[in-house]
Amino acid sequence: MEAAIKIKEETLKVFKKASSVAVLTGAGVSAESGVPTFRGKDGLWRNFSAEELATPSAFSRDPKLVWEWYSWRREIIRDIKPNPAHHIIAEWENTFNDFCLITQNVDGLHAKAGSQKILELHGNIWRVRCTKEEKTFLNHEVLSDNVPPLCECGALLRPDVVWFGEALPEGIISKALENIRRCELFFVIGTSAIVEPASSLPLIAKQSGAYVIEINIGRTPISHFMDDTYLGKAGEILPCLHSESLNLRE
Ligand code: OAD
Repeated sequence: MEAAIKIKEETLKVFKKASSVAVLTGAGVSAESGVPTFRGKDGLWRNFSAEELATPSAFSRDPKLVWEWYSWRREIIRDIKPNPAHHIIAEWENTFNDFCLITQNVDGLHAKAGSQKILELHGNIWRVRCTKEEKTFLNHEVLSDNVPPLCECGALLRPDVVWFGEALPEGIISKALENIRRCELFFVIGTSAIVEPASSLPLIAKQSGAYVIEINIGRTPISHFMDDTYLGKAGEILPCLHSESLNLRE
């Protein structure tokens, strides 16, 4: 039998009172759907790490290799379903007056679960961008036999995701910061919290006065300043927290 997850009283108290809530998610929130995380056991592809492939220099050196990696990830992601963690987060959009979802994930699973207002810090794997004209297009093909794909203008297309060494989309990070600075409760779910600038967001929330809660299967470099840390799977902890706290909100 599954061990019951004990939700702390203080968490429930804050959850009940909060009207302004922000959530930051990382690859761990999609792990239970079957998406490989970046730094877990399953994170390597042909022995390459994300840091070796998700860079502008890797793409200019070998666009085919980088696209083969993204095609592999697209193929895994294409048919999988959101898990209970995605669904609860989508419900929170209706639970709180002021709610903001910030994700580092590019897999599109939050949208599949019904979240509508999503700040995608690292872009989206289902969008491609022309390397010459900067135009973006939606593209849901796996593309495995046809990489690297080309734009109508003849230039290479790249995934419309943020690579190491690239700036985050400005409008998105500034909106995220606005929400983080005013939220009363901030959740950090399923991220190793080592990739900047996303990994600084929990500290900014804390310094701005938010109560900060981490949900992760293991401790991270930011666990020490959390108000609460729940060690376990997001897809198990979030449903418990949600049902216990809803009783209180009624
Ligand atoms: P990581 O792979 O670095 O970390 C995933 C985190 O999720 C780890 O801390 C795990 O302990 C945790 N985890 C795994 N399964 C979980 C579960 N079921 N429930 C809760 N937590 C779980 O992924 P990110 O932190 O998202 O960027 O990585 C950040 C960025 O690095 C990514 O967006 C990507 C990557 O390189 C780019 O590609 C630019």
